[in-house]
Parts: sequence; C-alpha cells; structure tokens
Amino acid sequence: MVKMQISDLSVNYETSSGDVHALENVEFQLEDNESIGIAGESGCGKSTLGLSIIKMIQGGKIIAGEITLDEKSISNMSESEFDDTIRWKVFTIEQQFDQILKQHDFTGDFQKTMHNSLDTVNLSHSILKKYPHELSGGMKQRIVLAMALLLEPKFVIADEPTTALDVLIQAQIINLLKSLKKNGVSIMLITHDLAILSEIVEKIGIMYGGKMVEFGSSTEVYRKPKHPYTKGLLDSIPTLRGEKKLKFIPGNPPNLLSPEPGCRFFDRCPEAMDKCKKNPPKIKTDSGYVLCWLYE
Ligand SMILES: Nc1ncnc2c1ncn2[C@@H]1O[C@H](COP(=O)(O)OP(=O)(O)O)[C@@H](O)[C@H]1O
Ligand code: SF4
Ligand SMILES: [Mg+2]
Repeated sequence: MVKMQISDLSVNYETSSGDVHALENVEFQLEDNESIGIAGESGCGKSTLGLSIIKMIQGGKIIAGEITLDEKSISNMSESEFDDTIRWKVFTIEQQFDQILKQHDFTGDFQKTMHNSLDTVNLSHSILKKYPHELSGGMKQRIVLAMALLLEPKFVIADEPTTALDVLIQAQIINLLKSLKKNGVSIMLITHDLAILSEIVEKIGIMYGGKMVEFGSSTEVYRKPKHPYTKGLLDSIPTLRGEKKLKFIPGNPPNLLSPEPGCRFFDRCPEAMDKCKKNPPKIKTDSGYVLCWLYE
C-alpha cells in the first residue's frame, strides 16, 4: 500500500497549435489504506494524471507541482532511481502490458507461477503461446491483472480497465481489483463510468477540463455531491430498477488549448452565476474539497 500526495500538479502537452493544459493544480491525498477512483468525461486529463505518477507522459511535461509516494517526492527523482525504487511498485494496467510481455519469456518458474495465477482468472495455458496482438482485449486485461498479482506491486493504476469489455468480463475484472485490494494493494481506478467506483474505492476525484473539481470519500461524493458537474454525472447513471429519469449534461467539454479564465464548467452549469467568470475557490468539505462558487 502506498501513501500518496499530489499537490498542485500541472501538466502541459506542447503541440503545434500551442500548449494543451491537460492538468491544472490537481490536488489530493491518500492514506496508505485508501484507493481512489478518478472519474470524468473523455479528454478531462484522467490518463495524464495516471501517467504523471509513473513518469511516462509522452509529449507532456509536468510544469508545476509535486507527487510524493510514501513521503518520498518522485518529482525530482532521476530516471534510474525511479526505476530502482518505484517503477515496479506502481503497476499500470494499460501502458505496460506489451512491455511486460516482451520482457519475460514465459519459461521455467515464471511460467509456472504465471500459469497458476492465470488459472485463478480462468485463462488457458495456450494463450501464452500467442502474441499480444493476437489476444482479445478481454484476454489482455486478464493477463495483465494476473501479472499485477504476480509482481506484487503496492499500487496499481487501472486506466479504463473495463472499457470495451462485455459485462461478464467486466465483473471479473472488478472482482480481481477487489482481490488485489484485499491483498493490500492500493488502486487508482480511472474511468468515465462513475457507477463502477462505489464498491471499490474509498476516495473519489472528479475531473473536469483538466481540474479536479471535487475530491472526497466515495460515500460523500455519492450521497452528498457538491459540484454541479458531479451531480450531473450521478444523474446520468442508470439504476438497476430504472426508476430514475436519466439526465444528460448538455454541451461540450472546454478546449484545453486556450482555456478561458473562470470556472471551466461555466457554459454547461445549470447554476452558473456572474462571479463564476472568475476562478472558483477551493472549499473544504467533510472529507475533501470542491472547486465551486456555490459554497463560498
Ligand atoms: N500526447 C498528447 N499531445 C497533445 N495533447 C494530448 C496528448 N495526450 C493527451 N492530450 C490532451 O490532453 C487532454 C487530456 O487527455 P487525457 O489525459 O488523455 O484525458 P482522458 O484520459 O481523461 O481522456 C486532452 O485534451 C487531450 O486531447
Ligand atoms: S463555479 Fe459556478 S459555474 Fe462553476 S460549477 Fe460552480 S456554480 Fe457552476
Ligand atoms: Mg484516458
């Protein structure tokens, strides 16, 4: 398990049309027995956040802020120190898959352990003889999760691990993440689907337009959401009984190339006020914070 602190993290991607402000002043803290879910629409900076933690933002640059894992700042760590001390403790499910398959030939003990571990996720031995590109998305995900168990990392970043998978496999992946947690692994579960988070994580961070607009315990975020965007996301989740009328948030996410000053949600917010044209303050909540003028 890992104690994690992210303070004031800002990341830009340089492009020919200018800098994309993918993350701005992102901030949160996790105790070592806590996992976090990161939710928000596509393009809001979720993957960039995950990649920052493993120092793998390709084409992007951390322009401000600090990331500490177990009280140790990784921001100024050299690549080699990071590789030695952190890289294998923090495991990402999306990005390192092909790399890992390349690094290990599946022979000897490793194969045996791998095989045992794969058994737990009902994969047949024969797929190990295939190449990564021949494997289906679901198989890849399950292998990677099995490897996540094997490598015994302290922190697993799962970036949309259930996207594009059928419901049964999704459920298996969720169960695997839960069993990782039971084995003492902290998880960062990145998803555009707020619905899958409630039973897995203790903390939730809601991202909008490169900012973390709300952070708190999953109980507080689900039961007493503060930010109008969080409320909108929750209203668009279907319930099993379907008694709730689903609402969708009209409009489009902001352009991160040259973001306007003020609240990024201004154009789409049903509660927008004049003062929202200025940057919203960060207001403390019971278990975290919200970036919104409504609570000032
Ligand atoms: N390599 C890149 N070069 C330029 N812009 C990028 C790059 N990767 C991501 N972005 C931009 O950064 C923003 C955040 O992207 P990303 O972190 O992938 O969001 P998410 O994972 O929430 O969909 C988006 O506006 C995206 O277009
Ligand atoms: S700051 Fe204003 S525009 Fe932004 S979410 Fe809050 S009420 Fe809406
Ligand atoms: Mg992403």
